[in-house]
Amino acid sequence: MPYSSINFNKKTILITGGAGFIGSNLAFYFQENYPLARIVIFDCFRTEKSFNNGNLLSFGHYKNLIGFNGDIICGNINNKDDLNLLNEFSFDFIFHHAAISDTRVYDQKLIMQTNVNSFYNLLSKAKKDKSVLVYASSAATYGSLSSPQTIGKENPENPYGFSKYMMDKIATRFNNDNPDMKIIGLRFFNVYGQREFFKAKTSSMVTQLGHQILSGKVPRLFKNSSLISRDFVYIEDVIQSNVKACASNSNGVFNIGTGISRTFQEISDILQKELKTNLGTEYFPNPYKDYQMNTQADISSAKQNLGYQPRFSLEEGIKAYIPDILKNHVDSVQ
Ligand SMILES: NC(=O)c1ccc[n+]([C@@H]2O[C@H](COP(=O)([O-])OP(=O)(O)OC[C@H]3O[C@@H](n4cnc5c(N)ncnc54)[C@H](O)[C@@H]3O)[C@@H](O)[C@H]2O)c1
Repeated sequence: MPYSSINFNKKTILITGGAGFIGSNLAFYFQENYPLARIVIFDCFRTEKSFNNGNLLSFGHYKNLIGFNGDIICGNINNKDDLNLLNEFSFDFIFHHAAISDTRVYDQKLIMQTNVNSFYNLLSKAKKDKSVLVYASSAATYGSLSSPQTIGKENPENPYGFSKYMMDKIATRFNNDNPDMKIIGLRFFNVYGQREFFKAKTSSMVTQLGHQILSGKVPRLFKNSSLISRDFVYIEDVIQSNVKACASNSNGVFNIGTGISRTFQEISDILQKELKTNLGTEYFPNPYKDYQMNTQADISSAKQNLGYQPRFSLEEGIKAYIPDILKNHVDSVQ
C-alpha cells in the first residue's frame, strides 16, 4: 500500500544493501507500487568468507531479488572506485542500508570503515544530487539502558552500536551545515519478516525459532526467557517508516519499533500455535554477559514527525510471515 503522498514514479532511487533483508523488501515495495520508478541497488552480495564468529562477512543474497526488475551494481561501500559507479546516476532518494549488520562482530577497524567511512561518501553524494537521504541506525545505540529507549540517551556497548551512534552524530552535524538537505536516521529495533532467512544465525528469534520448530526440534531458549523481551517490529512497518521518512518535515533520528516489548517465550508460543505444534520448550544457560534484557522503543517522535503508525502486533506479524518461513524451510531441506 502507498504509505506516502509522494509519487515515486519516474524518481531515481538508490538502495544500498538492497540484496539484504530490509533493502530487498524496500526495493519490492517501490517496484510494486511505483512501476515507473528507477530503482538502483548497490550491494556487495556474499562471498564465502566469514568473520571469526563464523558468520559471513555480508549477507546479501540473489534469492532476495528474484523478480526484481531494476538495476544492480555489485560493489563494496568501502571501495571508492565501486562507489564512483553511482555517479552514472543522479538520485532523488537514497536509502542507505548497507552495513555490517552483525552485532557480534568485534573487528572495530572493519566495522568503523564499513559503517562510518562509507557514510561520509553517501552524505556527499546526497548533497551533490540534492537527494533525500534515509539511513539505517539501530537500537544498538542504546546498549543496555533501561526501557523505554529514548532519542538523546544513548550508551552503545559494542562496535556495531558505536558505529551507528557515530553515524547519527555525523548526520546531525552534516545537516546543520547543510540545512536544505533532508536526512533522516531510523533506529530500527528487532526487525523480522520475509527475506530474512539468509541472515542465518543473525536473523531474528522469529526466524530461528520458526525453522527449529519446522525441523521438529524443541524450540531452544535461554533460561528465564519469559523475562527477556524485545520490541519486535514487522518488516512491513519498517518499510512504512522508510517511505514516510521521505515526506517528513523534520530531520533527525527516530526510533522504529512497535512501542511494545514482547518476550522470547511469547514468540515461541505464537509460532507453535500458528504451526500447530506442541513441542514444549528447552532452556539453556545464556552464554552472553553483555546481554540486553529488555527493549521497548519510545516511538512518540516517529509518530508525531513521520506520521509513523505500526500496524502489526507480534501475532499479526508472525501470521503474515508464516508463508515465507514455510517456503524457505521447504527450499532448504530439498
Ligand atoms: N534487521 C534488524 O533487526 C536491524 C535492526 C537495526 C538496524 N538494522 C540496520 O538496517 C540495515 C539493514 O539491515 P538488514 O537486517 O537488512 O541486514 P542485512 O545484512 O540483510 O543487509 C545488509 C546488506 O548490506 C550489504 N553489505 C554489507 N557490507 C557491505 C559492503 N561493504 N558493501 C556493500 N554492501 C554491503 C550486505 O550484503 C547486505 O545485503 C543495516 O544497516 C542494519 O545495521 C537492522
